[in-house]
Amino acid sequence: MARKFFVGGNWKCNGTTEEVKKIVTKLNEAEVPSEDVVEVVVSPPFVFLTLVKSLLRSDFHVAAQNCWVRKGGAFTGEVSAEMLVNLNIPWVVIGHSERRALLNESNEFVGDKVAYALSQGLKVIACIGETLEQRESGSTMTVVAAQTKAIADKVTNWENVVLAYEPVWAIGTGKVATPAQAQEVHCELRKWLHDNVGAGVAASTRIIYGGSVNGANCKELAAQPDVDGFLVGGASLKPEFIDIIKAAT
Ligand code: G3P
Repeated sequence: MARKFFVGGNWKCNGTTEEVKKIVTKLNEAEVPSEDVVEVVVSPPFVFLTLVKSLLRSDFHVAAQNCWVRKGGAFTGEVSAEMLVNLNIPWVVIGHSERRALLNESNEFVGDKVAYALSQGLKVIACIGETLEQRESGSTMTVVAAQTKAIADKVTNWENVVLAYEPVWAIGTGKVATPAQAQEVHCELRKWLHDNVGAGVAASTRIIYGGSVNGANCKELAAQPDVDGFLVGGASLKPEFIDIIKAAT
């Protein structure tokens, strides 16, 4: 089954109004493959979401970097899925390793968040990934399978889920996974989906890679049969993000 290539840009906690406008201007000017070939979603900080959405070309889309686990209310500081829907924000990134580590977001909490976001009509980039210690101890698949199971336990319809494998040891470090490392985990994740969710979900779900992707390494990674795209951090703020989009196969 053909899976449309997916490139996400996670801007994390970066930017000013001026910087955001400059990035969007460059994105709007870029010559890239059509939306039929590659799906592009950029994820600015909450405070710039509506600005970016108002300025961004119509064939690119926006994502929030998180949302609350249930209906809004007395949850100071949180942003609800309903609010994102109200603002016509179609995507949300959930379970990023930085939130799992810094805010103690558990596998179950992430699973609940993914399920609630989907229930409100959002499309979800669900992040998983092991730490260096877990990889060096040989427990990579145990860890990412448990993270994926926590999502699968709560999610029945996967059509609006993109699974982002982001080895923590590759995020922000410049130590990108080798194409073989990425393909191995993506292939095992697809087998896990096949065996535990279903053959159709395994075949259709995009599994994207994140962790030090840049203009130089993206082509070889994109050539891997189970790498369906990228979730890009640092490089998504730079002109090379366009090169990464062009790596769509
Ligand atoms: O969500 C993507 C991000 O975690 C990857 O960051 O800077 O290694 O591309 P970076």
